[in-house]
Amino acid sequence: MKCTVSTGLLLLGVLAVGAVQGASFNNTFPDGFLFGTASAAYQVEGAWNEDGKGESIWDHMLHVHPDFVVDGQNGDVADDSYHRYKEDIAILKELGANFYRFSISWPRIMPTGEANNINQAGIDYYNKLIDELVDNGIQPMVSMYHWDLPQWLQDLGGWTNPIITDYFEDYARVLYENFGDRVKLWVTFNEPATFMTGYTSERGMAPSIFKPGVGDYLTTHHLLIAHARAYHLYDEQYRATQQGKISITLSSSWEEPLTNSTADAIASERSMQFVLGIHAHPIYSKEGDYPAVVRERVDKNSKAEGRTRSRLPVFSKEMVEYIRGTYDYFALNYYTSHLVTEMDTGYDPSIERDCYVARSFDPSWPESSSVWLRVVPWGLRKLINWIHKEYDGPEIIITENGVSDRGTLDDQSRVSYYTSHLAEILKAIHEDGCNVGGFTAWSLMDNFEWLRGYSERFGLYSVDFSDPARPRTAKASAQVMKEIFHTRQLPEQANVRGSKSIS
Ligand code: NOJ
Repeated sequence: MKCTVSTGLLLLGVLAVGAVQGASFNNTFPDGFLFGTASAAYQVEGAWNEDGKGESIWDHMLHVHPDFVVDGQNGDVADDSYHRYKEDIAILKELGANFYRFSISWPRIMPTGEANNINQAGIDYYNKLIDELVDNGIQPMVSMYHWDLPQWLQDLGGWTNPIITDYFEDYARVLYENFGDRVKLWVTFNEPATFMTGYTSERGMAPSIFKPGVGDYLTTHHLLIAHARAYHLYDEQYRATQQGKISITLSSSWEEPLTNSTADAIASERSMQFVLGIHAHPIYSKEGDYPAVVRERVDKNSKAEGRTRSRLPVFSKEMVEYIRGTYDYFALNYYTSHLVTEMDTGYDPSIERDCYVARSFDPSWPESSSVWLRVVPWGLRKLINWIHKEYDGPEIIITENGVSDRGTLDDQSRVSYYTSHLAEILKAIHEDGCNVGGFTAWSLMDNFEWLRGYSERFGLYSVDFSDPARPRTAKASAQVMKEIFHTRQLPEQANVRGSKSIS
């Protein structure tokens, strides 16, 4: 493992990027606050067809349509973590991470997705990975589903077929049975709002089926039921002995009103409900079910389209109760914010049209290498406060936060991104009284960034994808995060770029 930049220079970098914090700023993370990094199976493992692994929807789509990815690449080899997981754990240890969030590839352990077809080699791989983590004092946090559905289940309709909830419960049981003795932090799904777009575009996220405003809502409906089934299964059969915590990772931008008009304030709130509330409200709110504004608008539009029923399926009263409260903490991914205003936009029908807002960036917000990602640290503080208020103060664990560049080792923009976002988290904790229990950097190392291939890099460690050994090299940000993970403090004058009052 090479380390190219000296710590002295790095600290100078941190000091140089930002404004000086006010005297009252508390730069210390509370006792028990957890630091970790994240990855996902398809993005890092490789070994796509080794040792009995089945085909996933990403394997399938990118083998048939390599042109869907900007650089024509795929995750066949990626970071080769299937063979090099010990190197990953060595760098996690070097960082001083308390936990590692990784995902299990469903088709690696159940090639068709069915419970009567278990691939022991896949189980063995995750046992070795988990054991190595535990032996190194790093807690495993496991995402059950980070988008790589077995293709066999996709052929049955994937997330649009209600039967998927049975299969998911079977899968969850296999996970608890095999890994639950050592895994105490579970996430059922990663970013439903992102993977439901697999049904809104002909060349987008897998499976790339173009049924906007229908397929995405069916996916939402079924994954919420699947999540609740996995949660109740744990409650009924495993919690007493395994004593872990379960959540669902929801991603959200902060939806800032474009102007201070009442219309924009209403548009902002509506947008929050369509972006986050659609998946959060059924689980975290006191009353359960979809947010009223989402229900009303999709029902109204569906009726106007001459449909006999709403494009957003309806939960029975029993199902509302079954889903409500199925969480032990709130798992949140945050990357960016938008300015929103009321506007008719998007395909007819689509969630965009149902939501009826236009989203934009303030030109002053710093860019990254991803068109969708501008740097808005204060948005995270507002978002945490919104969740705190809306859902009555759940414990929030940030399960992803990070920024892209083209892969430089002296990644000062990433240093600035992390320190400024961590500063906003500290304010949310110390000044606003929100309950934030952990932070996860996306990502441990550069990896396969879905449709952007290897062209956008999010890692704390660089990976040379032209070298079969896939060497991992610490970037400047790795040194700074190591310092923060060890001292549990932000450097005294860490950057607070973009800080804004949240009155
Ligand atoms: C969220 C996703 O969970 C992850 O897979 C992706 O790489 C990052 N965002 C960056 O786009």
